[in-house]
Amino acid sequence: MSFSLIHIPDYSDCFNLIIEVRNDVMKFDAQDCILVGKYRLAQTVFDFRLRNAELAQITKPGQFAHILVPGKTLRRPISICDVEGDTLRIVFEIRGDGTRILSECEVGDKINIIAPLGKGFDIPQDKKIVFIGGGIGVPPMLYSAKQAGNDSVVINGFRDKSAVILTEDFKKIGCRLVETTDNGTYGIHGFVTSPLEEIIDEIDMICACGPTPMLKNISRLAKEHNKPCFVSLEQRMACGVGACLGCAVGIKRDDGTVTYKHVCKDGPVFNAEEVAW
Ligand SMILES: Cc1cc2nc3c(=O)[nH]c(=O)nc-3n(C[C@H](O)[C@H](O)[C@H](O)COP(=O)(O)OP(=O)(O)OC[C@H]3O[C@@H](n4cnc5c(N)ncnc54)[C@H](O)[C@@H]3O)c2cc1C
Ligand code: FES
Repeated sequence: MSFSLIHIPDYSDCFNLIIEVRNDVMKFDAQDCILVGKYRLAQTVFDFRLRNAELAQITKPGQFAHILVPGKTLRRPISICDVEGDTLRIVFEIRGDGTRILSECEVGDKINIIAPLGKGFDIPQDKKIVFIGGGIGVPPMLYSAKQAGNDSVVINGFRDKSAVILTEDFKKIGCRLVETTDNGTYGIHGFVTSPLEEIIDEIDMICACGPTPMLKNISRLAKEHNKPCFVSLEQRMACGVGACLGCAVGIKRDDGTVTYKHVCKDGPVFNAEEVAW
């Protein structure tokens, strides 16, 4: 694929990013949202409500926002956790400087984002789907599970009780919710793969987001039981729109060789069978 950058203003500015890919011009608008709600869900996990009616209308499950953090040149990618009316919801964990500065934003502040980015989950209405989230991979499963029928199942796994988030939100959408903790301090003791093994023959499809070892194990189980499985991958990102080639992930070709795709543009959601784990 060939591409050329027509115009990238200073990343720290709030202007537009325009990229030409195979003669198609893709325009990515950076837009201001107003932070209208800020909640702390766990010691280092924050829940932000960002008002922007235009973006809320077009966001699909599994897509992400590339967020400008005050004082940082590179944006930070955060999944859209939910959409409610004219408001996007993001839930993020403080992992480093960028997310710490973001967590210090206050209600009423403007937050500049490029969104919605990436290819999310396709949620067929006639399938029984199990949505699996691990740790900070749980938030994007909320909007995804909301799109599915009521007989879908959600399995969320956390390190321990102090890390458990979004329980009431998942209960509200009416799906069957199973929660696990690695150390047994809350819910079922163990990894998400144990309850998955119990129900895997009843379901039609798996959607998952979380740490790579978890996704790899889910993918192996899906293959053994011949179930379609889609995983949302995480990769360090710079541009977020397919221009810097920084977020490459190995994808298997039909002949068994490996090619590279980009998590920001071709993903973050991939068919688990294609991923070169
Ligand atoms: C598609 C996608 C969706 C994500 N969704 C969420 C979410 O919903 N909630 C959440 O808490 N986290 C999410 N993350 C991870 C989040 O982007 C990182 O935790 C964050 O960028 C770390 O930035 P930092 O400045 O705090 O950390 P630092 O480590 O100081 O960051 C330094 C640089 O590395 C990049 N970086 C560091 N870790 C990651 C990472 N894991 N992934 C991508 N870039 C990284 C940052 O963008 C920055 O450029 C997502 C990542 C991706 C790729
Ligand atoms: S982050 Fe630049 S290509 Fe994906």
